[in-house]
Amino acid sequence: MSEKNINFASEMTKEQKYNEMLPQLAALIEGETDETSVLANVSALLRQTFGWFWTGFYLVRNGELRLGPFQGTVACMHIAHGRGVCGTAWAEDRTQVVDDVELFPGHIACSSLSRSEIVVPLHDARGKVVGVLDIDDTQLSTFDAVDRQYLEQVAGLLTKTLYT
Ligand code: SME
Repeated sequence: MSEKNINFASEMTKEQKYNEMLPQLAALIEGETDETSVLANVSALLRQTFGWFWTGFYLVRNGELRLGPFQGTVACMHIAHGRGVCGTAWAEDRTQVVDDVELFPGHIACSSLSRSEIVVPLHDARGKVVGVLDIDDTQLSTFDAVDRQYLEQVAGLLTKTLYT
């Protein structure tokens, strides 16, 4: 194989990484019904593909968001409806892309190393928000409309695995 045919991971665009990862993710969770197992492996796949600082899930439990499977540093375990980036994504049922977490009103700082963040709502089969996918990075402005589009696809793939 000539050198130009070798696809070094570091030279791949973000879109290429997502396009490689999505079929892997679909295959990984195919036929799996255990929510914890699926979310644990999806958080690992996202972190190992992109190297982000924190990748994981918060799930709606008893009227609040509770920490679910994740990869990264210790995180807060309870988030109220409408609080922080995660609670806002849940309350508004809308993906939040935050270039600089320090400028987001009410941002919950689980780690001082986190600088930018994206939070995508997760829906059950009836369209109700049942949790969020939360990703943090140590760089400012890591996430954009490309991440939003692909990570919303990831959230869509998880719908059938989420307990209601
Ligand atoms: N920063 C989040 C809290 C969760 S941690 O980032 C893992 C927020 O403001 O909702």
